[in-house]
Amino acid sequence: MYNHIHVKNGHLFIEDCDAAELAHRFKTPLYVLSEASIREKCTRIREGFLDKYDRTYAAYASKALMTTALAKLVHQEGFYMDVVSGGELYTALNADFPSDQIIFHGNNKSPEELEFALKRHVGRIVVDNLDELKLLSQMCNAFNRKAGILFRITPGVNSATHAYISTGKKDSKFGLPLDEDILFPAIQFAIEDPMLDFYGFHFHVGSQLFDNTAHVKAAEVTLELMRVVRERFNYTVPEMNCGGGFGIKYTKDDEPKDVTYFTDAVMAVIEQFCETHQFPRPRIFIEPGRYLIGEAGVTLYTIGSVKEIPNIKTYVAVDGGMSDNIRTALYQAKYEATPIDQPFSETSQEVTLCGKCCETGDILIEHLPLPEVHVGEVIAVFATGAYNYSMASHYNKHRIPAMVLVNGDAAYEIIEREQYSDLTRFDRIPDHLK
Ligand SMILES: Cc1ncc(COP(=O)(O)O)c(C=O)c1O
Repeated sequence: MYNHIHVKNGHLFIEDCDAAELAHRFKTPLYVLSEASIREKCTRIREGFLDKYDRTYAAYASKALMTTALAKLVHQEGFYMDVVSGGELYTALNADFPSDQIIFHGNNKSPEELEFALKRHVGRIVVDNLDELKLLSQMCNAFNRKAGILFRITPGVNSATHAYISTGKKDSKFGLPLDEDILFPAIQFAIEDPMLDFYGFHFHVGSQLFDNTAHVKAAEVTLELMRVVRERFNYTVPEMNCGGGFGIKYTKDDEPKDVTYFTDAVMAVIEQFCETHQFPRPRIFIEPGRYLIGEAGVTLYTIGSVKEIPNIKTYVAVDGGMSDNIRTALYQAKYEATPIDQPFSETSQEVTLCGKCCETGDILIEHLPLPEVHVGEVIAVFATGAYNYSMASHYNKHRIPAMVLVNGDAAYEIIEREQYSDLTRFDRIPDHLK
């Protein structure tokens, strides 16, 4: 199903690493990432988009997964970095990521985060709302720093995905609507404020998309907005950021498109518009998160119990769960899995793969076809690279799993396994309880 997953001598391999050896050496639950898979996706974007069209850029949306090692890899690949918090920004800078190649998003950036971004000369701040615009302008003056800004707009398009990850609608907590009395005064302010460099507009229409319609419509709306801005303010907007959202293969039912299916369609609309309206073609950014990292991830879990409830179902419980992958509980995400010592072998039952958290909804996979499995066997869940570790929690004081980056037959721990002592590191005891 994925280029980096193989079966050799009846064992599951991730690149050239035997999953059983990884589980033995690093213990479970374990996030495993294939470096080859990440680099292959970067190459596809480079060849299909960056090399094909000039003045195009790709920023990795680090909310999908952020670690210092990954930030290094992303920089090596020549990508920019999208961050949405002081923590993601700190991690990027901790990896010596060039700050002028960082794009700072977020619908409620705090003064502390904006100060951090300004002082570290972050290249672009994507302004989400009018309060932020005012605050940013004041802070630019206070710190005597200019900021390059874009406005996140809600282009008013619906995307065919789960409501929680459909973000281009007018009713969204993200971005500014196109209303005359909201957006246009903000644009005028950005153009006139000497401390702000107004670069343009950003949209992100949704995630896990297999259809390019929302991207194309959003690009059309944004181009028209750029035309109006030129007409009204005599200002030529130099940049457009089309967000991410390119879908991946979680299960065999998913038929994701290559990134070029989205980028070619969007570029065609942009180039046509610019020709018709004699508009210099803006710099174009995309911001893939899941597309780069999702399929690269595999989570290894050990089975702790197999509970058959007669005439109802069988629960196979593993040593992780919603604390390391909340996506099934949060928005009914679908995954596939197989036991690593009998990978993809003939199945004889349908089970519910559940975790060990104290929630009935702590389910990883419903209706998972499996062969007979036993306590102690290791199960691999596929396509867990995006929005798993980055959404992990310490619920029930479970330790967040370690993470290993696999490169050929080598495996490197890029997130160390947490110890119990890490869980109480920030606990303090008031005197009267000592
Ligand atoms: C502004 C922005 N850019 C990029 C992304 C990345 O989305 P995806 O991982 O679906 O590519 C997101 C996801 O929420 C986003 O909000």
